Amino acid sequence: MKITQDQNLLSFNTFGFEVSASEYFAVQTVADLHELHKNRQLKKSNLGILGGGSNITFTANFDGLLLHNQIKGRHIVQETDSEILIELGGGENWHEAVLYTLSNQWGGMENLSLIPGTVGASPIQNIGAYGVEIKDIFHSLTAFHLDSGELHNFSHADCKFGYRDSVFKNEKKGQYFITSVRFTLSKKPIIKTQYGDIQATLESWGIETPTIHDISKAVVFIRQSKLPNPAEIGNCGSFFKNPVVNSNIIPALIAKHPDLKTFPAGDGLTKVPAGWLIEKAGWKGYRRGPIGVHAKQALVLVNYGGGTGKEIIQLARDIQNDVFSQFGIQLEMEVNAW
Ligand code: EPU
Repeated sequence: MKITQDQNLLSFNTFGFEVSASEYFAVQTVADLHELHKNRQLKKSNLGILGGGSNITFTANFDGLLLHNQIKGRHIVQETDSEILIELGGGENWHEAVLYTLSNQWGGMENLSLIPGTVGASPIQNIGAYGVEIKDIFHSLTAFHLDSGELHNFSHADCKFGYRDSVFKNEKKGQYFITSVRFTLSKKPIIKTQYGDIQATLESWGIETPTIHDISKAVVFIRQSKLPNPAEIGNCGSFFKNPVVNSNIIPALIAKHPDLKTFPAGDGLTKVPAGWLIEKAGWKGYRRGPIGVHAKQALVLVNYGGGTGKEIIQLARDIQNDVFSQFGIQLEMEVNAW
């Protein structure tokens, strides 16, 4: 069991922060986890689990044992004429997994193309984009319980999915290492183009009856045109969640800002785009030394190089305070801070 001391994490976090972990272990198999547990190495007071490092802001060096999920694997569990149940290792790269399903003509993940991160992290925040969330295709998962060393299965209901939310961000937080995830995909896909930009992009390409490959290409195109590529500019995608507010505050907001587009969120609630709030508050394209707010999507905070997690969190707080003072709406961070 080779635990590395003082591992540099620069290439393991998409913000590109110069940080390190005092102890680091790349988990490649479930047997690795059993071995670590047997040797009582999981009893450390500070354990961290890292996937693609694309939803995390390191505000300091990590003092503890960091387990890096690198468990690979792609299996067909069962299959009918219309559906297929596949199992993917928690350390599989998300977008490569999407491309694998597309190459097999299985539909369901195409709207989720090009999302950074790993398969194992995808259920934790119920990743979503362009009208689809993983809860729409999720079947179940297996996770290693760090305390007992047991493998536990979680059904769809067990995960308690919500908007960018699950049981793994709440009552089970920090307790599990997700080893594999199962998804139900369709051999007769239902194409989802209702999300504004997809339809418009396909139309501009002259595509009337899109395939799942066309949808994926459109999503990749839209994402690349709006979101910074972490290989070029450090970022973690959306830094804040879109706030869900009481619908009774909306008419006054729209009276003042007729361009505001809102989304019904059930039960007298309305989702307001955080990107719009941040832009209206004047932060879009703002720069503070090495860090800033992306010029094409105000929901994304960026590190141009040499910035720190502490600076990003300070900027995030300043934005939260300003948006609250201007709109009375509290923004919640979507990215985890360590
Ligand atoms: N908007 C602005 N200014 C901005 C950004 C957005 O006015 O700077 C407005 C847009 O005009 C639009 C609305 O806000 O009316 C929504 O914008 P967009 O469709 O770009 O999506 P979003 O709500 O900003 C969410 C997800 C993204 C996902 C997109 C596409 C969250 C926190 N973010 O962003 O997810 O890619 O929808 O489905 O829900 C991520 O989680 O890291 C992420 C990138």
